[in-house]
Parts: sequence; C-alpha cells; structure tokens
Amino acid sequence: MADPASRPAPVHAESGMAPPASSPSAAEPRRGFTSTLKGRAATQPEPRHEEVELEETLRPAALEDFVGQTRVIANLRTSLSAAQARAEPIDHCLFCGPPGLGKTTLAHILARELGAQLRATSGPALEKAGDLAGLLTNLRQGDILFIDEIHRLRPVVEEYLYPAMEDFSLDILIDSGPSARSIHIPLARFTLVGATTRQGLLTSPLRSRFGMVHRLDFYEPAELVGIVQRSARILGVPLEDEAALEIASRSRGTARVANRLLKWARDFAQVEGSGRIDRALARAALAALQVDEVGLDEMDGRILRTLIEKFEGGPVGLNTLAVAVGEDPGTLEEVHEPFLIQRGFLRRTPRGREATPSAYAHLGRKPERTQSTLF
Ligand SMILES: Nc1ncnc2c1ncn2[C@@H]1O[C@H](COP(=O)(O)OP(=O)(O)OP(=O)(O)O)[C@@H](O)[C@H]1O
Ligand SMILES: [Mg+2]
Repeated sequence: MADPASRPAPVHAESGMAPPASSPSAAEPRRGFTSTLKGRAATQPEPRHEEVELEETLRPAALEDFVGQTRVIANLRTSLSAAQARAEPIDHCLFCGPPGLGKTTLAHILARELGAQLRATSGPALEKAGDLAGLLTNLRQGDILFIDEIHRLRPVVEEYLYPAMEDFSLDILIDSGPSARSIHIPLARFTLVGATTRQGLLTSPLRSRFGMVHRLDFYEPAELVGIVQRSARILGVPLEDEAALEIASRSRGTARVANRLLKWARDFAQVEGSGRIDRALARAALAALQVDEVGLDEMDGRILRTLIEKFEGGPVGLNTLAVAVGEDPGTLEEVHEPFLIQRGFLRRTPRGREATPSAYAHLGRKPERTQSTLF
C-alpha cells in the first residue's frame, strides 16, 4: 500500500466530472476510400477516420479469432482462467507495441471473454483529475477501464490513478476554503487495461502498477496471410492464396496495413479486373500505391536514401534526420523506425541512426565506406 503522505492532493469535485467521450470522431465527414488512400502512404500504420467502420467490421471479437501473437495470447489465456477460477477480476494489464498490431482489439476481446463492460478513454482525453474520477466512480466490480495512449496521460491525472489501481480508492475534495473536506471513496475492483505505442515514455511508477505487460510484435507474413484471408471472407471478396501472400508480405508486419491493402486490392479488382484478386492483380494494385516488394512506402524509402545520400549512411541524430526528410521526429521514431529496424535496414546507435548494409543492398547501392572505417 502506498505511503499516505506521498498521495496526491484529492481530486476537487468541482473540477468537472464529465466522463470523456470514447467514441471515434463520428461527426467527421466520410471521404471516399480510394481518393484518400492515393494521396497518402497506404502503409502508414496509423488509423484514419474513414477507416473506423472497416476496422470495426474486421476486428476479431474472440480470442480464437485473433491470429498470431501466440505468446501474448497464451499468457492472456492463463490469466483469464486463473482469474475465472478465483472468481476475481484480472490484474491490470498493459499492451504495448507499434500502431495497428491489435492492442485495442485485445482490450475488447478481454472484456468479452470476461463478460465485463468496457469503458474506453484515452490519455489526452482525460484533461482533469475530475474526468478520471467521473469514470472511476461509475465502474462496477470486474469492469474494464481501457485507457488508450496511456503514455499521454497528464501527470496530475496519472497521480490519481496510482491509489485507484493499488487500493481501489479515490480521495475527493469537497468545497473550498475553510469548509473544505476530503472524502475517501472506495471504488469497485476494476481492471485497468492500458495501451501504448511508446512504452519508454511511461513513468516507472505507472508501469510498475500493471500486473502484466504484454508486448505485441510485428506479424510474420504467414500470420498476415491468415489475417488477410479472414478479412477477405468477411468482406466476401475472392482472394487467391498467392495474392494473399503478396499483400501480406508488403504490409510491414502490421494487421491494419494488411486489411487496408486488401481493401484497396478489392477496389482495384472491381475497377480494373473481374473482381477476383489474383497475384497479378494484387501486384498491379500495390504497384499503383508505390508500395515496394518489402512493404516500404515512400517515406521509408526517403529516410533510407537521405541517410545514405546526405549523411553517408550515418550516424545522424533523430532531429536532423527528421528535418532532412520533412517529417516530425515523433512520427519517425514511432511509426517508421520500428519497422525499418525490424527489417534490418536501420540501426539506432548512441551516436544516432545508421543505414545498414541491407539498406544499401535494397536500394541497389554500394556502401562507400565500411562501418569499421567510421573512426
Ligand atoms: N491478430 C489479429 N487478427 C486479425 N485482425 C487483427 C489482428 N490484430 C489487429 N487486427 C486488425 O487490425 C486493425 C487494427 O487493430 P487495433 O485497432 O487493435 O490496433 P492497435 O494496436 O490498437 O493500433 P493503435 O496503436 O493505432 O491504436 C483492427 O481493425 C483489426 O481488425
Ligand atoms: Mg488502438
């Protein structure tokens, strides 16, 4: 139990108790899929507002429909059966990993497997401590509170989460001035499920309060084939095995990208072909999007070319590289680098980013100097 002296000041009841909206930006106008896809890189793993409906349709609802991430799934099954045997809620758990790998999906699956209600919010949506208090006091025993982008919680809000996670209680300050008094509110035993793309930005007090931390990895092509085939069945689109592999291997290890490329191939097949997605059609559709054979998009290519052409392969600092390619350093670090590193095209070193020999080979260039001559 936390030392009471180290607790934050109680939440002020007047600071607003309205729970934040959890629904996506439904009011935004829906734009045509193909028109927006062409203008922006299709392999960006982040969701777009026009994709919300597609994501909901394709989101696996049960553990057995979830493809891949076998270690995470096995561990989740263990916690679920242990908690169910004890008739207790499961421990707070954190899902981390790059965008589009299934963190939100797993939070929903957990709730369903437990027969629990899920309340969803996100780090940036919780502006005041009162926002969090409003959500917490409405939870019932066993409910799941899902906080997406939990690394973006404000420190003042985060501090109230500590006693809530640890002791299932909250201290609220009523009134102000001489009549101010604090009331201690016991909370129902809920489970906090956090999701983050930037585990490194989580404070250690917050991280240490999660009973389980599950790290999602990029999917193997064979797993993505399974995901694309499942999505094709749901969408009712004829997809040949070779075409599924073609799409899977260019999806930068990301379920969301695989589904997006499939949908693009379906549109392409309708307009340019017979409606059936075979290998030739998949290749033509992906070529039209400028997605190369390993799934690198225009920005990935630009990053590698810039490193090699302007900085002799590096090492170069993140901010300098970001300015040189015209991208925000956060996006570079969070979206592009994980995949380039996983594919062995880029290295993070204490002195900065470096292109690897595979990057030179992929771009059909020869390193002008070897790594050993750097000093
Ligand atoms: N293992 C899987 N099997 C089948 N489909 C999946 C799987 N993982 C993710 N998806 C699909 O990919 C889409 C994106 O997944 P999800 O929204 O859970 O990603 P996320 O990790 O929460 O991403 P973000 O960090 O951007 O919030 C979902 O619509 C879902 O249909
Ligand atoms: Mg998500």
